[in-house]
Order: sequence, then structure tokens, then C-alpha cells
Amino acid sequence: MDSTNQLLKPVTAKINESGNIEIGGCDLVKLAEKYGTPLYVLDEETIRSVCRDYKNAFKNYPKVNMMYASKALCTMATSKLLFDEGFGFDVVSAGEIYTVYKAGVDMSRVLFNGNNKSFDELTLAIELGVGRISVDNFFELSLLNEIAKSHNKIVDILLRITPGIECHTHEYIQTGHLDSKFGFDLTQVDDAVELILNEYKNLKLHGLHAHIGSQIFETSVYGDEIEILIKEIARLDEKFSLKLDEINIGGGLGVKYTENDCPPSTYTIADIIIKRLDDCIKKYNIEPPALFIEPGRSVISTAGVTLYTVGSSKQVPKGKKYIAVDGGMADNPRPSMYQAKYVAGVANKKEVSSSKTVTIAGRFCESGDILIDGINLPELEEGDILCVYNTGAYNYSMASNYNRVQKPAMILVNNSQSDMLVKRETLEDLISHDEIPGRLKK
Ligand code: LLP
Repeated sequence: MDSTNQLLKPVTAKINESGNIEIGGCDLVKLAEKYGTPLYVLDEETIRSVCRDYKNAFKNYPKVNMMYASKALCTMATSKLLFDEGFGFDVVSAGEIYTVYKAGVDMSRVLFNGNNKSFDELTLAIELGVGRISVDNFFELSLLNEIAKSHNKIVDILLRITPGIECHTHEYIQTGHLDSKFGFDLTQVDDAVELILNEYKNLKLHGLHAHIGSQIFETSVYGDEIEILIKEIARLDEKFSLKLDEINIGGGLGVKYTENDCPPSTYTIADIIIKRLDDCIKKYNIEPPALFIEPGRSVISTAGVTLYTVGSSKQVPKGKKYIAVDGGMADNPRPSMYQAKYVAGVANKKEVSSSKTVTIAGRFCESGDILIDGINLPELEEGDILCVYNTGAYNYSMASNYNRVQKPAMILVNNSQSDMLVKRETLEDLISHDEIPGRLKK
């Protein structure tokens, strides 16, 4: 069955009676007028549709827990919405912990992950009752045990392991290969377990955690990952009489940024995962573990679009036609960081046959600030509204204030209604943390 992550545009995207693009029943041109640009727009129906996909796809494995990877996009409103849809949360910083906490999330459904969690972050996690901490390395085991001891608590943990699986995605977003900065190498797991069982009395180990990469289109890698985790659980039981009953397989399911991208359906992935899990449970003769999955991008990317206003343009003699918009690498660093490709439409102009190939340039002071290098669009003029699709994940969450430009606003649309989720930064916001030392004021 098809799933929402296989769509390039939000499920509600269409051309309305005025000939403009509309999402969630809202005319994008009117949204741009009302809220200004650049503007992140999230479609509620698409988010809920993805959540339905995940729930239905995994319904045949009763012990499944979906943990949304907040790093893809973390705001209070999206956290509340996803929690109401049944998701727990994978968080990686005090900022993400605090955001989900303030959104009213049940903190026992939160897992804290990361390769260099600080003393303060681990302390906050313990104090706010974060449900699981995925311990990444020996240093953290010792540090966490000390903090847990000083709080007189037993902390529930997983061990993050490096499964040694290479998947075909951009090098920077691969994480499960052997030479990775994340997690315990499989040869170090026994030492970690011995320390937990014999020395670190304030840590309780529940299971193993791995993550193999992001924007994954291959299906077999998840089966291989499950085999490695279950085999390891059976081995640890044999060696230490240790009953681990949780596996967390991370996230990674891809999305469709361009027509050439063909991510697998959530249903296909779920079938592969459940089938291999059932096979491995029999093969290694273990009790069925609770299964945790941590999708980020596939949950939130398709729901998001970014609106920009077209400004200057430039025809290089015998070269490219550049169209500059009022945002770029600071609100979407993915093209300059990962050579990521995007598709866009013009919100106020119908697709016409007389389209031109143009390059969409950002407004930031770097030649590399190109949002889309070569796209056919109707002839663009100053004031046109460009809608870049599939920007819900890793755009706002990786946005910066480069060139001291304010971060855009984010809104949620549904049933012809639009609501503010994140206000546009003001010039005052930009200087609000600055101080001029007294001696410079003279
Ligand atoms: N779990 C762990 C432990 C992770 O490290 C990640 C992503 C996820 C879950 C969620 O993966 P997803 O389902 O979103 O693929 N900034 C990059 C992506 C980095 C992903 C890092 N880890 C990008 O814009 O493509």
C-alpha cells in the first residue's frame, strides 16, 4: 500500500479557483500576504496522515512504540500534536527535552540520545523523568551512574550500538557504519554490560539501540539491523543471563524530494521489519521484545513547504538565469550542506508550457547559497510567491541567523484555518542576547 512519505507535496495541495496553490484549504498567496515571507507552512492533515500510516503499518506487532525524532523539527505545537497522535519522542539536547516537556508530553515516553550529553543535560533528563537514556559510550555510563546516584535514582537505559551496516545515503547522514562516532562497537558491548551489572548499580539496562542512517530507500538494511540486535540480545542472555526486552531500530525512512526519489512505503518497511523480527525471535529463541522506531524526516517533511518572495533576477550572458528569493541557506541549509535537491511551484501562477529553466538563488552572501540549481518554472517576476516543497524536516531545525537575518515564522494550516506555531524573529530578538562591555561604552 502507498503511504504519505511517498508524496512530493502535502496531501491537501491543489490549485484553487483563483489559480493559486492552496494547502490545508489556505491560499498560499494570501498566507504570504498575511504572515510575510520566508514562511514555513505545515499541513496538519499530512502530519496526521503520516501518523495513521505508521499506526496501521505496525498494527500487527502489538509491542511497537513510535518515537518521533525531534531533531527533524521540534516546536511545542508539533510535539503536542504528535504526542496526541500516539508518538513518544527521541530527543538529543536540553532544548528538545525542555520543548517536549513544556508541550505537556508524558516524559516517560521520551528517550534521550546523543554522543556527548553533558552533565547538565543528563541531570535535567533525570529531574524531568525522561523514560530512557540511550547511553552512547563508556564515559557516559560512568557520568550517568554518578548523577543517578546523587539523585538516589535508578535510571533506565539502552545501549547504543554501532551495527556495522552501510546504507546508501549521503556520507554525512550515515550513522550505522563501523567507523562511526556514535555508539558502542559490538566488540565493546560485553565490557559495557559487565560494568552495568557489577559496578554501575544506579543504571538499569533494558535493551539495545541502533540507527543506520537517514533518507534511506533500501528495505533490506532494516532486516539486517534487526538480526544484529536480536542476535546480540540472545548472546547477552546466554553469557550474562540478562533478559533484555527492548530494541530500538532508530529512524531513517526516506521521503520524496524530487520526482526521481522513490522512497519505500511505510507499509513495506513495516512488513519487512515485523517479518524479520518474527523470524529472529524464533531463530534465536527469545521472548518478543518491545520494538521502538524513531522516524523523524518521514513524519514531518512532506507536510512542510516554504514560501519565498521573488526579488532580483539576473541573466548571465550565455549563462544561467538566476532568480533570487528572500530566504535561502539560513532557513534551508540542506542544498548547500548535502547537495539536496528540491522541487518548487509558483503559488500565484499556473504551470504554463512556456516555462524557463532557472536557478533559484538565496539572499545570503555566499555563492553556494543556491536553493535549486535548474528548475523549469513559469516566467518569474519580482513579487511572485515561490513554494518549495518537502521542507518540513531539517529546515527550521537547522536554520541559523547567518548574515544576522531573522528566522522565518512557522504556521500550521488545516480546514482553511492558519495558526502561528513559531513567530517570526524581530530585529530586537536578534540583538536581545548581545551586550556591550562597559569599558567599550566610554
Ligand atoms: N534516531 C537517531 C538516533 C538519529 O540519529 C536520527 C537522525 C533519527 C532517529 C531520525 O532519522 P530520520 O528518520 O529523520 O531519517 N540533517 C540531516 C539528517 C540527519 C539525521 C541525523 N539523525 C538532513 O538534513 O538530511
